[in-house]
Amino acid sequence: MKRLEGKSAIITGAAQGIGRGFAEAYIREGATVAIADINLDAAKAAAAEIGDAAYAVQLDVSQQDSIDAAIASVVDRAGKLDILINNAALFDAAETVDITRASYDKLYAVNVAGTLFTMQAAARQMIAQGHGGKIINMASQAGRRGEPLVLVYCSTKAAVISMTQSAGLNLIKHGINVNAIAPGVVDGAHWQHVDSMFAKLEGKQPGQKKAEVEAGVPAGRFATPDDLTGMAVFLASDDANYIVSQCYNVDGGQWMS
Ligand SMILES: NC(=O)c1ccc[n+]([C@@H]2O[C@H](COP(=O)([O-])OP(=O)(O)OC[C@H]3O[C@@H](n4cnc5c(N)ncnc54)[C@H](O)[C@@H]3O)[C@@H](O)[C@H]2O)c1
Repeated sequence: MKRLEGKSAIITGAAQGIGRGFAEAYIREGATVAIADINLDAAKAAAAEIGDAAYAVQLDVSQQDSIDAAIASVVDRAGKLDILINNAALFDAAETVDITRASYDKLYAVNVAGTLFTMQAAARQMIAQGHGGKIINMASQAGRRGEPLVLVYCSTKAAVISMTQSAGLNLIKHGINVNAIAPGVVDGAHWQHVDSMFAKLEGKQPGQKKAEVEAGVPAGRFATPDDLTGMAVFLASDDANYIVSQCYNVDGGQWMS
């Protein structure tokens, strides 16, 4: 028996990277998945490659109308919503004295408000359906402690961990389990961006920051999205029915809590 047979999921920011890996894993486990992304062309291309159980949905998590329309289109298409992964997020890095309001506003609009209000819209739908659901928020090891050049991003991920705790405690009475995953470092476009920002900020060669970070991972390597899918499937399955408000580190041993 597949573990997510017949389930309807929406994964934000699933056109590439970790979200796409989650979509593929959920479909292998029997779910249908909305690949919801601000980049609709990329979402369509990903859905076409993944197969019939995947479909693209336009979503900008920083816009309430867009969130409401995306949830409505999942219900139109699949008849219900069982699982949300709040995965879309933006990264930035700067010296504390150089952080701009524009960077702060952008990251908080996507990583914090986007996570909160997508979670809210999904929870409203799940409550209306009356048979619970699963919400998984993407945190990060960056939410566990600050980093000298990453104040804004780290604080948004700390907020994701905190929102997961409060929402989980509030929504479990409806049978909705809210939990989070805190990855360490995962190879892909996100880390290419991080590496190039650090190259500028710390005067490093391209690839140097990545190599230094990788050398510090107890497991000895960056993760791939596939390293995270086991936890994402587990938290969306009935095996997680008694798990509430937790944030699981899937990080090759980088953080213990
Ligand atoms: N890659 C890592 O090392 C790492 C580590 C820890 C946590 N994470 C977290 O995992 C999640 C996925 O990371 P990734 O590496 O796959 O990122 P990524 O940058 O490769 O992909 C992010 C996706 O989100 C989409 N997106 C951006 N803004 C959006 C918006 N406003 N609305 C909807 N979609 C939007 C992008 O188009 C893209 O498809 C993020 O929450 C990230 O913070 C990543």
